[in-house]
Amino acid sequence: MDALPTQIDPSLNALMARGAAFLGTPYAILGGAMSWVSERNLVAALSNAGAFGVIACGAMMPDRLAEEIAATQALTDKPFGVNLITMHPNLMELVQVCLDAKVGHIVFAGGIPPGPAIKMAKDGGAKVICFAPALALAKKLVRSGADALVIEGSEAGGHIGPVSLTVLAQEILPHIRDVPVFVAGGIGRGEAILSYLEMGAAGVQIGTRFVCATECVAHPNFKRAFIRGAARDALPTVQLDDSFPVIPVRALQNGGTKRFLEHQAEIIRRYKAGEVAKDAGQLDIEHFWAGALRKAVVDGDVENGSLMAGQSVGMVTREQPAVEIIAELLEQAQAALTARRAGA
Ligand SMILES: Cc1cc2nc3c(=O)[nH]c(=O)nc-3n(C[C@H](O)[C@H](O)[C@H](O)COP(=O)(O)O)c2cc1C
Repeated sequence: MDALPTQIDPSLNALMARGAAFLGTPYAILGGAMSWVSERNLVAALSNAGAFGVIACGAMMPDRLAEEIAATQALTDKPFGVNLITMHPNLMELVQVCLDAKVGHIVFAGGIPPGPAIKMAKDGGAKVICFAPALALAKKLVRSGADALVIEGSEAGGHIGPVSLTVLAQEILPHIRDVPVFVAGGIGRGEAILSYLEMGAAGVQIGTRFVCATECVAHPNFKRAFIRGAARDALPTVQLDDSFPVIPVRALQNGGTKRFLEHQAEIIRRYKAGEVAKDAGQLDIEHFWAGALRKAVVDGDVENGSLMAGQSVGMVTREQPAVEIIAELLEQAQAALTARRAGA
């Protein structure tokens, strides 16, 4: 890459300085790891554009992860991170793979990471980033050694908590000053980035807005669904009955989401009729979406697969190179800052 997207104003730089220094990048923008989407091409493109790409390990086994990290390193000499799901059965081996490959930042997602995994990552020289779903847990994670936190609002794509970023930011940002805090969920424009930086965020994490990067290998059908999708189409999964909990996942509605409701209704009916045990029914519901994200992202089956997307999907209007998306975000932040100064 010849040049970074844009020359930015010292005041915007100052607002991003802590996050950028932590990531080792020009801009305090993390590419949120997205399973099947955040592989070598998108991750390297984001890092080459001055942001911080993050590989989504998802269910990859250690050998596969090592291969993906090496392939990413072949495409960029800039810093990038790896996102590990805490319930992966080989979590410690995956941490070791990251350390062996000199990955500088490990993001633990999908639950509170076990203490030994945090210790191993830090002892091995990596910086640890954790997701904090509430203030008490944010404080606990800092005490446990987290070097930075991500707070992700329910506007985000994929697995979500119940609280919006608007509220999480107010609850957490004023109280956590020891480590940088990155905000995620629903961020699609630079004005929002500026506002959260002014509220005390060290930077932002963005997923949905990067799916239609030219470099992203997601199937053209998947990208088309994002370009067509509006905020109101990206909804959390609906749970029909308290006895059968459903983990909320925000995704664009399609045939699969309709069938998921029918599937739940059928299991509930069979349970009430004594035809299926509760555990078996719960497992059946949980298995409904197995492999569904891959089906949509890789195979392009946007009718039956899972179209995980955040509410910012309405701000995805075309395919663009990563460098252009980042430049747009920074220019919007810059313009908002300039307008404010001019009293406009
Ligand atoms: C298709 C998709 C897949 C995702 N997969 C993961 C994942 O594997 N691990 C993770 O921690 N977060 C995952 N996320 C969440 C993102 O990393 C990021 O936090 C989120 O997209 C931010 O909200 P936004 O989409 O509104 O920008 C995923 C999001 C999407 C849209």
